[in-house]
Amino acid sequence: MSRQKIGIVGSGLIGRAWAMLFAAAGYWVQMYDILDTQLTTALQELEKELHRLEEKGSLRGKIRAAEQLALIDVTTKLDELVKDALHIQECVPEVLQLKQTLYSQLDELLDGITVVASSTSTFMPSLYSEGLSRKEQMLVAHPLNPPYFIPLVEIVPAPWTSKEAVEQTKSLMLNIGQRPVTLNREIEGFATNRIQYAILNEVWRLVASGILTVADVDRVLSQGLGLRYALLGSLETAHLNAPGGVADYFHRFGGEISAVSATYGATPNTREDAVTLAEIAKQCEELVPIEGLGERRAVRDEFLIQLAKLKKQFE
Ligand code: NAI
Repeated sequence: MSRQKIGIVGSGLIGRAWAMLFAAAGYWVQMYDILDTQLTTALQELEKELHRLEEKGSLRGKIRAAEQLALIDVTTKLDELVKDALHIQECVPEVLQLKQTLYSQLDELLDGITVVASSTSTFMPSLYSEGLSRKEQMLVAHPLNPPYFIPLVEIVPAPWTSKEAVEQTKSLMLNIGQRPVTLNREIEGFATNRIQYAILNEVWRLVASGILTVADVDRVLSQGLGLRYALLGSLETAHLNAPGGVADYFHRFGGEISAVSATYGATPNTREDAVTLAEIAKQCEELVPIEGLGERRAVRDEFLIQLAKLKKQFE
């Protein structure tokens, strides 16, 4: 059986991560970029990264690093990328105008089977697919960084995305070992960022009002809630936290939840509140200086690798 082809548009951080995920599952991957040099760098980085993961025993998939690398090639021609592709994962920078131009070009080239999924963290699919003739084949498949170690993918359809395109993307994500969730309709921030921003807003308010330091407010998650959330979602957490399950939980604590929620105050203006921002930046940089971010990211990735192994034992 011939291998199915996946096209990746944009060979930066996220494009490379997708290339690794698809190659690990045995797909033939072609990467496209407007910069030739970027593609050369991407291939060199992929070679290093795949071998590094193999040496550490953290390579995904059943085939060796060298075989995975052999499944990845590059092109600077968009029509060549699109030809015979089952799926195209778009990973160009987060600039709406750039995405709109690219989707218009793709619209001219697509045939009937190819689904185009954007990795965008912020743009609802209708913003770049409206008015295009192949708009039923376009949606969002949003990963979390680093996608190689975090399995969640948010699949977000535009109002006109076909059910088939959603289903095809869902099966593909499951095939490569990711864990998709599908939103029934598009919404600003999708699900992850809506929840993440709710948390960011409240930690901001707790620091701004002098109730907690940055280190302590982050500890509430890293030494507390986050430990449960690495296994359970917030609703299952609630379900387990009352003798009669989730209905009992909300009967017991719903009044308290509403009363506390009424004290949250306005949504912080995180860009304009320069005083709080300076304070948060100062405290964060005392904990991790800017020049130490790379090292700390490496620790995060190593932790996620170990956590992924642990999680497998509980699934
Ligand atoms: P990046 O800046 O690392 O890579 C972008 C790549 O796209 C570069 O190689 C650039 O040469 C190429 N490019 C620019 N214009 C192009 C065009 N017209 N056609 C083809 N290639 C083009 O960006 P990154 O971080 O990989 O982000 C890509 C997408 O993934 C964005 O939509 C972003 O929101 C999303 N995303 C990023 C995450 C992150 O943590 N960096 C997490 C989840 C999603």
